[in-house]
Amino acid sequence: MAEHNLQNIDLDKYPHINKGLDGIVAFSTTKSFIDGKSGDLIFSGYHIDTLAENATFEEVCFLLWNDRLPNEQELDDLHQKLRSERKLPEPVLTYIKTTRKTAEPMAVLRTAVSMLADFQDDSSDTMDHAIAVTAQIPTIIAAFDRARNDKDIIEPLDEGSTAFNFLYMLNGEEPGEAAERTMDLCLVIHAEHGMNASTFTARTICATQSDMFSAVTGAIGALKGPLHGGANTAVMNMLLDLEEKEGKDADPVAFTKEKLSKKEKMMGFGHRVYKTFDPRAVHLRKMSKKLSEETGHEYLYEWSEAMVKTMKDEKGIDPNVDFFSATVYYSLGIKPDLYTCIFTMSRISGWTAHFFEQKENNRLIRPRALYVGEKNLEWVPVEDR
Ligand code: SDX
Repeated sequence: MAEHNLQNIDLDKYPHINKGLDGIVAFSTTKSFIDGKSGDLIFSGYHIDTLAENATFEEVCFLLWNDRLPNEQELDDLHQKLRSERKLPEPVLTYIKTTRKTAEPMAVLRTAVSMLADFQDDSSDTMDHAIAVTAQIPTIIAAFDRARNDKDIIEPLDEGSTAFNFLYMLNGEEPGEAAERTMDLCLVIHAEHGMNASTFTARTICATQSDMFSAVTGAIGALKGPLHGGANTAVMNMLLDLEEKEGKDADPVAFTKEKLSKKEKMMGFGHRVYKTFDPRAVHLRKMSKKLSEETGHEYLYEWSEAMVKTMKDEKGIDPNVDFFSATVYYSLGIKPDLYTCIFTMSRISGWTAHFFEQKENNRLIRPRALYVGEKNLEWVPVEDR
């Protein structure tokens, strides 16, 4: 359907339309601060560079849930609770084993997470629910990938970090230190990002006083879209299509210019808030370069850098978090259609942190819409229409 014609609407008299809520500040929050001009990102007081350098994903979960870092005992307790919650309820495993092998992983994840609600004790508080769903999402993702490839599902270990266990359950072998650290850093980087579409969705559902599992299920649905979290999968598919069509000596500059000439969006580029290099992409870019050299995928990194330069030269647009995360995950041997699931594995911490924040100071979220249709039409009986 074409855009509505607002020509004869006196917008001064009516509420101004901020399409896509662009620039609207709907909440105050302590979860993150984004400076789109300088390219700075802060999670509850700590700059993303500080966290990338020092934090584990579990420390970031605690930070976002409590607005402070954990002490040693609190971190141990959180690790213990996450480990104790990793196993899936049998009916969820049965669903994962019996669903279509060709199902989209994000669709399976959305359904399985929604099922988890049936096995949570309603009387337990939402922090327990947040820990349980954070612990079980990696297990769901790995179990589905194993099942769809007719491999035995691997039970989570009752030791090791979230990153370690995910790679272990996915590949059937314990990951090396470098792979674990890379995955853990990706989980840190993707954890939280203010009022992005999926977090806004989670807060909107929370604001009706619905439950956390409904909020997370809705957020997964939002993240699935290629304009949001689905972009990382789209980036990898774009690179692999280029290789398939033109081989390793493909021309990424001509490819990019052709897409732009056809008014097509380059996935992994642009951002509603960042008007400079996404600070998260800075870290992912370094990882992508290092891993692509170690795994013989230098050409994918070189193509990526050529696309970055071309997008900057042609459109003044920078890469976002999804651009280099694609080649990082690819070099870790992860299939492209699992990348948005990995985004979910991390962003569950931000969604649940915002759920708590919304609950603490709730007001139903209900914007307006400007009616531009006809008014007072005469009724016409159906036989005369
Ligand atoms: C994430 O919000 C968040 O914080 C999200 C996220 C998070 O951590 O939660 O950061 C994660 O979702 C990152 C974004 C992943 N999506 C993509 O990579 C998809 C490709 N990107 C675009 O669709 C776009 O950049 C958006 C949707 C991300 C943002 O778009 P806006 O703010 O709505 O801007 P727009 O679409 O109005 O574009 C403005 C101009 C347009 O040109 P003109 O029509 O004015 O000539 O920039 C152009 C657009 O065509 N443009 C692009 C482009 N992004 C914007 N042109 C080509 N390729 C692109 N990627």
